[in-house]
Amino acid sequence: MRVLVVGSGGREHAIVWKLAQSPDVKEIYCAPGNPGIAQLATCLPIGVTDIVELADFAEKMKVDLTVVGPELPLTLGLVDELSKRRLLAFGPNKLAAELEGSKVFSKAFMRKYDIPTPEAEVCTTRAEAENAVKTLGLPCVFKADGLAAGKGVVIVRDEADRDKALKLFFGERVFGSAGDRVLIERCISGDEVSFMVLCDGERALPLATAKDYKRVFDGDRGPNTGGMGGHSPSVFVDAATAREILIDIVNPTLRGMAEEGRPFRGVLYVGLMLENGMKPYVLEYNVRFGDPETQCMLIRMEDDLLPYLLGSARGKFEEGAKPAWKKEAGAAVVLSAEGYPGPFERGKPIEGIEDATAEDGVFVFHAGTAKSADGKLVTAGGRVLVVAARARGLSGALALAVRGAEKIRFDGKHFRRDMGTKAMEILRERTGSGLS
Ligand code: GLY
Repeated sequence: MRVLVVGSGGREHAIVWKLAQSPDVKEIYCAPGNPGIAQLATCLPIGVTDIVELADFAEKMKVDLTVVGPELPLTLGLVDELSKRRLLAFGPNKLAAELEGSKVFSKAFMRKYDIPTPEAEVCTTRAEAENAVKTLGLPCVFKADGLAAGKGVVIVRDEADRDKALKLFFGERVFGSAGDRVLIERCISGDEVSFMVLCDGERALPLATAKDYKRVFDGDRGPNTGGMGGHSPSVFVDAATAREILIDIVNPTLRGMAEEGRPFRGVLYVGLMLENGMKPYVLEYNVRFGDPETQCMLIRMEDDLLPYLLGSARGKFEEGAKPAWKKEAGAAVVLSAEGYPGPFERGKPIEGIEDATAEDGVFVFHAGTAKSADGKLVTAGGRVLVVAARARGLSGALALAVRGAEKIRFDGKHFRRDMGTKAMEILRERTGSGLS
């Protein structure tokens, strides 16, 4: 089979890495890819938003399956364009991708289908937003309706934060048309978890649980990022909670989307808050694999990824399909550029990847890297590399990933060392050790 993977991050590198192990995959293309992906696939100079060019390539090269990594091409209708040409694609079509593409749509959808989610109001003016904050109280969360490259969510804890958020959303209008409508949501506290399922329009197959850490600094301090690392299993979601999430959230979502004429195929990633460690509330839906959750999850996947992606794209999983997972835990540590998620410099030479991967169980996925004019590997993004590690027990996997992260060198390298601290406390309470 010929497969085209769309995207250029650590998530897409992990997907390409996993598909390259499939006996049925003969050729992999990636648009646009990155230098790490280029070691496994043919990278193409086509951007993720070049919908017609991507479909032209898939048609010309008789690509058997296109796997769409990021949300933007999904919301722009890449899957629809491919389907129009009778080409198979993994991911939701444009109508179904609105679950992530519009927070106003997804909130209204959850209300209609009785899916637990924090109370919220939709505002289009500053005056409406001021009233919404009064009604909902502080703390609350301002969310731009449309896609904002992971930056459209602002937590408002006090009056100073409120004034800053009002200025950002309604004065400076930093989110452009994505911020034409703003959702103001009651803030709930607890443990934030990611729950990903593969969907074929009707059925959901849960993937291994994973947890990501979004704050840039140790101790969950500093601004939110796309994710500084994570681990799988999540630990925060036990079997009973996973069942509750499936019954109360995932299944009604799939039924509701089908009823709305938007059957959902692809990965449904539900971002949840477990209030008081117990009741799950949906904070957001994403319509693609999480990054870096995918990296720590895929290194644990026992079986071939391809048949699951094909089943989802065709609208029917094989009978009895159920992904199997290695017993070992997976961890991911993101190496970011100094200043990220704010402004950062590019072009810093990177060394030490071979040292890091020399240790058994360590994998390095490229995210924001490029080749310089003289062929050297350099930094080219905020999240530069992801060091993933698989080992016995969560503490072992996390320690191995941190050890790998230490071996890689570039100017301004930053990474978190404390991920999983609370997860390991929970494990210790549960089992009397941090090893499971
Ligand atoms: N790790 C968060 C996300 O993929 O959206």
